[in-house]
Amino acid sequence: MRGKFITFEGGEGGGKSTQAARLAGHLRSKGLDVLETREPGGTPQGESLRDLLVQGDPDRWSALSELLLITAARVEHVNRLIEPALAAGKWVICDRFADSTLAYQGIAGDLGLDLVEQLQHLAVGVTGPDVTFLLDVRAEAGLQRAEKRGGAARFEKKGATFHQTLRDGFLALANEAPHRIVLIDGEDTFDNVWGQIEAELGRRFKL
Ligand SMILES: Nc1ncnc2c1ncn2[C@@H]1O[C@H](COP(=O)(O)OP(=O)(O)O)[C@@H](O)[C@H]1O
Ligand SMILES: [Mg+2]
Repeated sequence: MRGKFITFEGGEGGGKSTQAARLAGHLRSKGLDVLETREPGGTPQGESLRDLLVQGDPDRWSALSELLLITAARVEHVNRLIEPALAAGKWVICDRFADSTLAYQGIAGDLGLDLVEQLQHLAVGVTGPDVTFLLDVRAEAGLQRAEKRGGAARFEKKGATFHQTLRDGFLALANEAPHRIVLIDGEDTFDNVWGQIEAELGRRFKL
């Protein structure tokens, strides 16, 4: 049986990586075969592109260049890793996927959703998540957490207006796809956020 594809989305510092790791552990404890991966990245090719994208000056790339680099990484990721894993019955947990491209480059980066959607269609076809957890936090709160955590910070340096638009963009995407995207208050405690994810898994997958 084909596996399930689960993505985590949202701005910086929402708790995506934290909860993705917890979900992976939970699914493994149920005896499921899990692939934990992330975007941009996931393959050696994609991780090389990630390094280019997440490091350096915020204006190092235009939104259009970001879109093309991220999409190139996604083509390799879907074809070499995600699709084969799903076909083999694995549960794929991905830290960011196409919604991030819609929100960062399409909305906050001002390229528009049509262009991003067309390119995704061309690049990955119909491969998409069964469920997406959107960890919503106020832009300032997320940036503060991300700053404390450290790490490569090119997108974090894009400024308050960018991050506010980004948050609104993700909320708009959730509004357009209420069956797929589960909106979660990322400012709630670790355990309450996890509790909502676990409850949703029960509802959707009887886990
Ligand atoms: N629910 C939470 N409450 C308080 N701090 C959190 C919560 N979730 C994550 N954090 C902390 O915030 C920082 C960013 O979390 P992380 O999972 O790296 O976010 P993201 O991957 O969305 O950028 C980390 O230091 C993490 O420990
Ligand atoms: Mg993260």
